[in-house]
Amino acid sequence: MASAARMSAPALMVALAVLAFAAGGSAQLQYGFYKGKCNASDVEAVVQGIVKARFAREAPIVAYLLRLQFHECAVNGCDGGLLIDGPGTEKTAPPNLSVKGYDLIAAIKAELEKRCPGVVSCSDIEILATRDAVALAGGLAYAVRTGRRDRRQSRASDVNLPAPEYTAAQAVGYYARLGMTPYETVVLLGAHTVGATHCSAIKNSRLYGYGGRPGATDPSMDRATASVYKKWVCPNVTSSDGNTVFLDDQWSALKVDNNYYKNLQLRRGVLSVDQNLYSDGSTRWIVDQLANNAGLFQAQFAKVLVKLSEVNVLTGTQGEIRKVCSKFN
Ligand code: HEM
Repeated sequence: MASAARMSAPALMVALAVLAFAAGGSAQLQYGFYKGKCNASDVEAVVQGIVKARFAREAPIVAYLLRLQFHECAVNGCDGGLLIDGPGTEKTAPPNLSVKGYDLIAAIKAELEKRCPGVVSCSDIEILATRDAVALAGGLAYAVRTGRRDRRQSRASDVNLPAPEYTAAQAVGYYARLGMTPYETVVLLGAHTVGATHCSAIKNSRLYGYGGRPGATDPSMDRATASVYKKWVCPNVTSSDGNTVFLDDQWSALKVDNNYYKNLQLRRGVLSVDQNLYSDGSTRWIVDQLANNAGLFQAQFAKVLVKLSEVNVLTGTQGEIRKVCSKFN
């Protein structure tokens, strides 16, 4: 291959353009992309104000938004595809039926459309709102680049999200396709520091049918924790299926902190995939490191959320800026 030093100027420009294309749309994202583009409004401040008001009355919004960002970005990239209503869209795929927070994204969009119609993409709103909620819940206030555009496509058949029974190796394999290292995978799952699931997610797999054996409890779950779940939270009756199970300790379930990893050390992880990160020797050291260093977790968590937010984004003239997040223009 010709070295850059020996290339003519036009050839070098073509080569650079090809390189920029190969790097994907993320290369075109910018800090403060909306500065000066929304009349007198500061777009990031408007988003932050609305998120703050919602967080004050509904703190679990941080969990809704984190999960929403993941389910958005893992399927064809952070492109707003998850927000589209209608038959056969991403939103209708089974793992997305319990995703929440769409109303907040819609409310932010409506406010921004009043201030500057057709300027701010729904995909950027998702990323900014999640960032703001994370900071309000105790995480770092990290900077994100903006300039994403919304894809004119959303198909349930594209939705390929990980299962709660994944082994650590399966989780690492899944996130490798999103460009994440094993370390980043363990950090990303730290999102389970907030929010909740339901008994139906763990009754069969962990409490009453481990390994397909009727009555068996997952031996990787701390015995005292398992008996509390079995006795009080998720008794073995169908009516307990919808009962809430916090993914982190109840007192920490609204805080972005490293307590999730401390729980894994105590074998109190809720989903199999969580506990598997500690059971597996290849990821256990990462859990230990993050459990023992709160500041490290915060810094790494912000970093992986930024990385996740730049997966396969549309920029420039690609896609569109939707008028309403749940509908293509
Ligand atoms: C192997 C990877 C993962 C699996 C198998 C997984 C699975 C799940 C499941 C089954 C639930 C409970 C849903 C329900 O019962 O309604 C859940 C909740 C949640 N997940 Fe994950 N997840 C994974 C990775 C992630 C990542 C990467 C993030 C964000 C960066 C994330 C954020 C959340 C949050 C915040 C909740 C709580 C939502 C709420 O309270 O409404 N998860 N996850």
